[in-house]
Parts: sequence; C-alpha cells; structure tokens
Amino acid sequence: MSETITKLAYQSFQQGKSYFGLAHKVISSQLLNLVAPPVNELKTKPVDPKLLLKIQQRLNQIIETDWEDSQRGVYPSSLLFDNPWEDFFLYYPAIWLDMPNIWERANQKRHQEFSPDIPTAGYPSYYLQNFHHQTDGYLSDWSANLYDLQVEILFNGSADAMRRRVLAPLKQGLKAFDTVPPHQIRVLDTACGTGRTLKFIRGMLPEASLFGTDLSPAYLRKANQLLSENPGELPQLIQANAEELPYLDNYFHGITCVFLFHELPPAVRQRVIEQCFRVTQPGGVFVICDSIQAIDSPEMMPMMENFPTMFHEPYYRSYINDDLVERLEKAGFENISTENHFMSKYWVAYKPA
Ligand SMILES: C[S@@+](CC[C@H](N)C(=O)[O-])C[C@H]1O[C@@H](n2cnc3c(N)ncnc32)[C@H](O)[C@@H]1O
Repeated sequence: MSETITKLAYQSFQQGKSYFGLAHKVISSQLLNLVAPPVNELKTKPVDPKLLLKIQQRLNQIIETDWEDSQRGVYPSSLLFDNPWEDFFLYYPAIWLDMPNIWERANQKRHQEFSPDIPTAGYPSYYLQNFHHQTDGYLSDWSANLYDLQVEILFNGSADAMRRRVLAPLKQGLKAFDTVPPHQIRVLDTACGTGRTLKFIRGMLPEASLFGTDLSPAYLRKANQLLSENPGELPQLIQANAEELPYLDNYFHGITCVFLFHELPPAVRQRVIEQCFRVTQPGGVFVICDSIQAIDSPEMMPMMENFPTMFHEPYYRSYINDDLVERLEKAGFENISTENHFMSKYWVAYKPA
C-alpha cells in the first residue's frame, strides 16, 4: 500500500516538473516572439505530433525505470524526490531576469561573451563559449546558480532521472570489488558540474570515497555547497581539465561522466576517454551519460537537429555522429555496452582486469 502511494507521489512529482518545464518553454517562446523576435528566423525542423507522443512515451518509460531501480534496491527511493527547492524559489525569478540577455546574445550570435571581471586565461578555447547562450558560459556563480533549473526546464523535469541512470551500471561494475571495504572504494565523477550526480552516488554508496573534477570554479563552489548538505564525508572536488586528470594511474574503481561529451570537440573526446582509462583500476568501470545519437534514435533526428540550432552547442552535430564505442575500444576499454533512456545515451565500459 505504502509502495503504491510512494509511486503515485513520485509520478505526480515528475508530472508536475514536466508540466512546469513545458509551461515555462511555451510562455517564454511566446514572449520572445512578442518582445524580441529573432532577427534571422531560426531554421528548425518541423516536429511531427507523432514524435511528441513518442517523446512522452520515452519520458514515461524513464520515470518507470527510475522507480524500478529504486524498488530493486539500487538506491533509496528518497533520491527520487531530491529537488533543490531552495534554489528553485531563489533562482527561478533570476531565469526570467536573465532571459533578455540570452535573447540578445542569441540574436546577435555573440557566443564567446564573458563579464570583464571573469578571468578566462588558461581555459581551453573550446570551453570559452556561452553554451546554450548561457550568461558567462560556465564561469560565474550566476551561471552556476541558474544551471540546474535551466537543465530541468530543458528536459521537462527529467534531468535528474537521466543522471540516475548511471547508478545501476556503476553499482553493477563495482561488484568486481566486493572484497574491498566500502570506504576504500573510490569513485570519480568527471565534469561534475554542480554536483547532482555525486549527490546521487553518495545516496547509493554512503561509505565510498567520492571525487569530482570540473573546469569551472564557480560550478565546483556550487557543488561543494550542495554536497555539504549531505551527511557523511564530503566528496573531494578539484578544478581540473578532464584531458589531464590529476590522479595516479589505476586509482578509481569507478568513473562517471554526465553530459560532457557533446560539449567537446572530437579530438578532446578521445583524450578525455584516454585519461579516464588511465585512472581507472584494472577491472573498473567507466559510465558515460550524454545525449541520444543519430545511430540509435533516427526517429529523434528532428529534435537532435533543432537542438544546436536553438541553443549554442558548437560540437553537438559532430557528437551525434561520433562512435564512442570505437573511441573507448581505442583507449583500451572492453566489454562495452550501450543503453538509451529518454533523451540520453549511456556507455558502460570496463578496463581489462
Ligand atoms: C553540460 S555540463 C554537465 C555538468 C554535470 N555533469 C551535470 O550533470 O549537469 C558540462 C560540464 O562540463 C564541464 N567541462 C567542460 N569541459 C570540461 C573539461 N575539458 N574538463 C573538465 N570539465 C569540463 C563544464 O564546466 C560543465 O560543468
């Protein structure tokens, strides 16, 4: 009985987030057309209503999978309800305040614009971009405060459900280290952003030693704030380029990487995979989550083609046609499998024992 109520509560919670995301997008795009119509009309592909139905089915499916994974004990069901409510109330108005800047930047195709007080020296040039037209790219506290909400809106409230899909393969992969005491298990989330995936990993592995790296000091600050709310040891966060991970060879039992690869140029994707291979222990697991790709979701092509047209995502087109299995094999990973959930794709790869 209580299980049925919890499931209903979770479904209602997700439905609420989904309606909220949809309503926000409809209202903001109507407002955009009224107040600041795009100078050059965006050449987006028409989306068939049948495709929208398909997307809704995929959304329902990921919610079901999320529920099932919690029921079979992969992680506690409390994770399903995790939501940064304080941030929602604090920063949702800021999203509206920021919108005119975003529209102006998008209209004028200003894609590398940073406030003068933001140090940009030392970052790779591919990174100095206003991804999704975001104010200050990834380099300010303002951007870090709005990011999670913006992503939740973009994915109709399912961004966390997509992140949680790395948990089952990670847990499965860590079974190879059953004889290692739980607190000696080391897991890295590379490009950890504001720390949401690490928060979920902590919920699943309360004793493991967790680590996070990202290039953005502002996002790491935000992650530190979020993860400090959790009981237990704080994950160790380091500012680092995923192309040069500051760890010893063979250090981690498991590595995750969520929503990074579509924002990297092809050669950088390979270097990041090679670094992850280097720091994974023999027998360890590497789990990637990123956008769906052309090869396994051809029916979703209109959405994939519209995404970089509407948002500034300079490497997305090459990403959707990139063969990450080949890249993983080239780096030395084996036993590679892939899965799709809603709008994301997962690669699970093992370093030979
Ligand atoms: C789309 S966000 C994803 C963040 C987070 N993983 C999530 O689930 O929301 C991309 C993240 O990758 C980081 N990033 C981009 N290029 C990087 C690189 N070369 N090394 C480390 N972090 C990088 C950005 O700072 C940002 O936090």
